[in-house]
Parts: sequence; C-alpha cells; structure tokens
Amino acid sequence: MESKIKDLNEKLALAYLGGGQARIEKQHQKKKLTARERVLYLLDEGSFEEIGALVIHRTKEFGMEKEVFYGDGVVTGYGTINGRLTYVFAQDFTVFGGSLSETHAEKICKVMDLALKVGAPIIGLNDSGGARIQEGVRSLGGYADIFYKNVQSSGVIPQLSAIMGPCAGGAVYSPAMTDFTIMVENTSYMFVTGPNVVKTVTNEEVTSEELGGASTHATKSGVAHKTSANDIECLEDVKKLLSYLPQNNTETSALLPFKLEAEIRESLSTIIPDNANKPYDMHAVISGIIDEDSFYEIHKDYAENIIVGFARLGGRSIGIVANQPLFLAGVLDVNSSKKAARFVRFCDAFNIPLLVLEDVPGFLPGTDQEWNGIIVNGAKLLYAFSEATVPRVTVITRKAYGGAYDVMNSKHIGADMNFAWPSAEIAVMGAKGAAEIIFKREIKSAENPEEKWREKEAEYAALFANPYSAAQRGFIDEVILPKDTRRKLIKAFAMLENKEVVRPKRKHGNIPL
Ligand code: HXC
Repeated sequence: MESKIKDLNEKLALAYLGGGQARIEKQHQKKKLTARERVLYLLDEGSFEEIGALVIHRTKEFGMEKEVFYGDGVVTGYGTINGRLTYVFAQDFTVFGGSLSETHAEKICKVMDLALKVGAPIIGLNDSGGARIQEGVRSLGGYADIFYKNVQSSGVIPQLSAIMGPCAGGAVYSPAMTDFTIMVENTSYMFVTGPNVVKTVTNEEVTSEELGGASTHATKSGVAHKTSANDIECLEDVKKLLSYLPQNNTETSALLPFKLEAEIRESLSTIIPDNANKPYDMHAVISGIIDEDSFYEIHKDYAENIIVGFARLGGRSIGIVANQPLFLAGVLDVNSSKKAARFVRFCDAFNIPLLVLEDVPGFLPGTDQEWNGIIVNGAKLLYAFSEATVPRVTVITRKAYGGAYDVMNSKHIGADMNFAWPSAEIAVMGAKGAAEIIFKREIKSAENPEEKWREKEAEYAALFANPYSAAQRGFIDEVILPKDTRRKLIKAFAMLENKEVVRPKRKHGNIPL
C-alpha cells in the first residue's frame, strides 16, 4: 500500500505541475497566473475538489504518445464561492498552449453536465491556443459538444466566462453563448480570425490587441461585458458578479437582511436641471436609490447612452436599465437597444426583478441607424420587456417621448408599477418640434413667426410636458417626489415578490434577431 500511495502522490504532483516549471515561469513572466492558481484564488479556501486530474490525451500521431501531461491542459472541478456551490474549468496554457483536445473537451463537458444536473453556476477560465492541432476533427467535435451544452444550460444555470489569455477561432463561440464575458486587459484577446488571416484576406494591418483585445471588445463590439486590469481583479469581478445571481432559474437570489426605515434621499431632489435640454448623470439617480455602493455595471464602456447593471435594493438583487442623458441625450439606438435587450432577458431568465429609470428623447434618426436595422434592433428591446415576467417597475425622471415611451417598460407592455417624477414629460415628442408640426400654418402666417412658434411651444408644453396627462389615464400609477423614490421602490418590489404570470404554451417566441 505504501508504494501505491507514493505512486499516486507522484502522479498527482506531476498533474499539479501542468506543463512543467519552465512553462509555469513563462506564464508568470507574462503576468498571468497558472490555471491552478486561478482556480484556487477564485474558490473559497480549501473548497476546491478536482475532477479528472489524471486524464491524458489519446493521440498517437506526430509523436504525441511521448508528450503526455496529466490533466491534459484543463483543470476542472467544483468548490464554493462565498459558501455557494460553483463548478469551474480553467484551461492550462502550460500544457500544449491550453489547446483543446478530445479529452480536454470531455473534462469540460463533465463539469458542465454536473452543473446543469445539480443546478449551480459554471465558470470557465479561458486561456487557450484553440483546437489541438494534432487532433484535427476530434478537437472540433469537442468544441461542438461544449457549444451544445452551453445552449442546453442557457437560462437554466448562470454561465460566466473569463478570458485570461488567447481565445481564437471557433473557440470564441463558447464564451459568446455564456451569460457574461470578462476580459483581462493586455493579456487576453478574442477573434474569429487573427491578424495574419485578416492581412491575407482584407489587406488590413492590425495588431491582436486592436483586433480583439479587452478594450476593443468592451468599447467597439460589446463582446466583453467587463474588463479587469489583471488576473486577480478579473477573478474578484467574477466573484462579485456571481453574488447578485441565483444558483439557477428556479431560485431567486438570497435576500440580505434589511429593515425598512424612512429611506428619504434628499439628493434626488436636485439632480434634474431646470433646462430640459441640459444633461445630467443618471448614475447619480441610481446611487440615490440603491443600497450603498451596490451597483455592478455591465457593458460600462459600450453604448453608454444606456446604463445596465445589477444592484441591491433593500437587500434584494435587482437589474437596472437606465437611459443616460450624458451620452447622446440618452437616445435609443441600435447598440443600446441590443445591450439592454440582452440584459433584460438575462434578468428575466434568472428571476431578477427589473427597475427602469427613464429619460429618453426617442430613437436616434439617420441613415446609419436605419441601414443598421434600428427597426429590428429597437424591436429586440420592446420584445424583451414585453416577454419578461419578473417584477417590473419604471420611474420616469424626465423625458418619455414617442415610441421610446412605449418601449422603456411602459404599463402597456406589462410593467407592474410605473412612477413618474414631477419633472416627467410624457409626450409624442418635445414641445418645440410638436408645435412646429401641428401649428405649421399658424406659425407661417403669423406676423412674427418666431414669437408664434414660442407661444405654441409653451401651449403644447403646458399640456403635455408633464406627467399628469398619463397619470389621469392610469398609464402612470403615481407621481412621486424624487426624495421618496427609494422607499416607494423597496415597497413596490416587496409587494411584487410573489408575482406570477401564466403565458400561453408555445415552443419559444420569435424575438427579432
Ligand atoms: C497544439 C499548441 C497550440 C494548438 C499552441 N500550442 N497552440 N499545441 N495545438 N492549437 C503549443 C505550442 O506548440 C507551444 O508548445 C505551446 O503551446 C505554447 O505556444 P507558443 O506558441 O510558444 O506560445 P505563444 O508565443 O504565447 O503564442 C500563443 C499562440 C500561438 C498565439 C496561441 O501558440 C498560436 O498561434 N497557436 C496556434 C493557434 C491556432 O492556430 N489554433 C488553431 C485555431 S483554429 P511548447 O511545447 O513549445 O510549449 C481553432 C478552431 C476551433 O481553434 C474551431 C472550433 C469550432
């Protein structure tokens, strides 16, 4: 027995060394942790249980029978994060560049299957040169097995991806189908085809970082939901994000202890400028409402005209969708509609109530928008809100104009409670434009057209640039004082806690993709 135990320990020691000390040092020189170091940092101390540490590949070609490493380039298993069960896989770049072999894929699939059966989140830490080139189609099959499982798990358990090194070729499609992707700045990149292929096909000269680095995907493509300065920050980000989410789609997130007090927030009374065309930062409204320092913003640097993210309100996890008047006056456009629609659908899938803060002048006009499909893309957000069955509450802080009024979680598309501040302007369009259209003849024939226009603008504004016309019809449930907003929302979400909606049977809807 003694020699058998020694033999096992030797094997495990080899497995823990991955591709060997020299390659580990190379990884450290690149300011990257190893796969094992990442897993141990991510999970609660002492909680990691490894699965498949002794798995090896089955390839015989290209002299591969002599190149064998226990674990085959991926560390897999389970543990806890803040006491909650979580499954994890971390690709080990020190073994064949973290490339994906048939057995490497089988290990990932095994933990994905367990996570789905048990109903707990799965986190993938990606750091890989892509398909194991020596294995050909066996590797491609392995990828497809993972993709298929990503889709089966979608909307059932949270799936999070951290990109902590290369992620190229078809490999990108697994993270893309998970719920959130966090990229490490300067050491990670994602692209379908790399700079060399790009140069050959399109003659463009571009670096890996420009083509698919963290900042590119966080600002231009929206592929990354968040970026982190280094490995440690990335793992902390993963842990924090997870704290807002339930374990699976049958649970709601844990309610932290909370006792309702007066909850008056005077700071909210002075945010809206007197001039309706002046911008203000919607973040100030968000922080005036939520539990202190609890906002976790998603897609912070992408489509900044809309803000989305998680927060706590009276100890509950909520999802916030808010127009941002600081960027493009908070208008809805192609990218902001897609960004918000995806977030709304995530929250709905995982029972996270939605709060909408609305100050929207409408949809962005222009050929660029029309030719890029603002019609179908705007429809995504309209569809996402309309199908959502979680508690849904809206606060209109200022503008709610035109079609955007309907789209932004209006009563008409199923919102449960709709509040407006006294500064709300709920109308088909701004008073100036409206006056120009409906009083065209009068303005034109007036002695002083400018003056007439201003007079008619004031007339229209007095009638519609307020929340009362909507409140009279019940489209707004209550006009509230800004300082009372937090209290009103805590009570509204508590009141809605047991909301249930029965939808007609169907396979799935047909969201305009
Ligand atoms: C097998 C690989 C590998 C791969 C890297 N290695 N990629 N082994 N299959 N795909 C090995 C290297 O041989 C090397 O082995 C070690 O990993 C580290 O690689 P380096 O090149 O030394 O590292 P670095 O300079 O940091 O460059 C990393 C890299 C580069 C940019 C990822 O290795 C690279 O370009 N690899 C090939 C990428 C690729 O074309 N993959 C296939 C894409 S197609 P030693 O023994 O020296 O340590 C694809 C299709 C997926 O993925 C489709 C899914 C549907």
